[in-house]
Amino acid sequence: MQKFTLNKAVFPVAGLGTRFLPATKAQPKEMLPVVDKPLIQYAVEEAYSAGIRHMIFVTGRNKRAIEDHFDTAYELENELEVANKQALLALVRSVQPDDMNFSYVRQPRSLGLGHAVLCAEHLVGNEPFAVLLADDLMVGPEGGPSVLAQMATQFRQLQQSVLAVQEVPLEQTRRYGIVAAEAVSPGLMKVRKIVEKPAPDMAPSRMGVAGRYILTPAIFEHIRRQTAGVGGELQLTDGISSLLAEETVYALQYQGKRYDCGSKEGFLEATVELALQHPEVGQRFRQYLSQLKLS
Ligand code: G1P
Repeated sequence: MQKFTLNKAVFPVAGLGTRFLPATKAQPKEMLPVVDKPLIQYAVEEAYSAGIRHMIFVTGRNKRAIEDHFDTAYELENELEVANKQALLALVRSVQPDDMNFSYVRQPRSLGLGHAVLCAEHLVGNEPFAVLLADDLMVGPEGGPSVLAQMATQFRQLQQSVLAVQEVPLEQTRRYGIVAAEAVSPGLMKVRKIVEKPAPDMAPSRMGVAGRYILTPAIFEHIRRQTAGVGGELQLTDGISSLLAEETVYALQYQGKRYDCGSKEGFLEATVELALQHPEVGQRFRQYLSQLKLS
């Protein structure tokens, strides 16, 4: 059997970010920083750590800042060079390592995650690919592999689609794609069923899909067969449900933590927890927090 390597990642970044207005009125929500790095950079670094070198962004209007962020910043780099600020220069250049490639395609209208993935089809071609939703900031276990790297390890063996899953509270099933799956080995399951955002009493389990997917290219045809689903949008989940009839799909209960940075609470949790771990400010921030009177 021909073995496929995973070299492409799709980042759907066309969403409006209405939950963060007014901050997102004139800037993409994916550029909101957690401590000192924009959300999208965390996702790109995670893909890179999984061996992926071709980053494909599905963008929309008002998203230019994302393209600029991953481009050379000529004036800035020149100024830093002249001022001999080598550490800052290295930091700025590290955003786009020489072996990383970028492609951009526009999603002209907000027609759903499935539609966003279809917009990238001609750039992905007949290869497996990852999908990363930058709203979900994923942190691997301390000193261990990132969540997508854990999934990529499974994919190399299985050569089939792999979804990241976590147990979610029953009252929150309406926020996630929910899978019914049977255990294959510790942490790894075969998906039997997947439903987009079911009500708690309709949910087949409490296993919710986090915003990380590795998909085989067969998914494109299955998304195309779908009609509008939840929210009147073309859902990736519905495409995966249809794919189940043709291919095995796995779910990996990943090691690590997910911050839902699409919500204010999740964004604040990520900010506080990542600030506490930050090499520059972590220690002082911990002292500051410990002195706060919270009641
Ligand atoms: C999307 C997917 C959903 C998934 C979730 C993870 O929903 O449609 O299946 O569980 O991401 O964050 P969204 O959060 O974009 O509404």
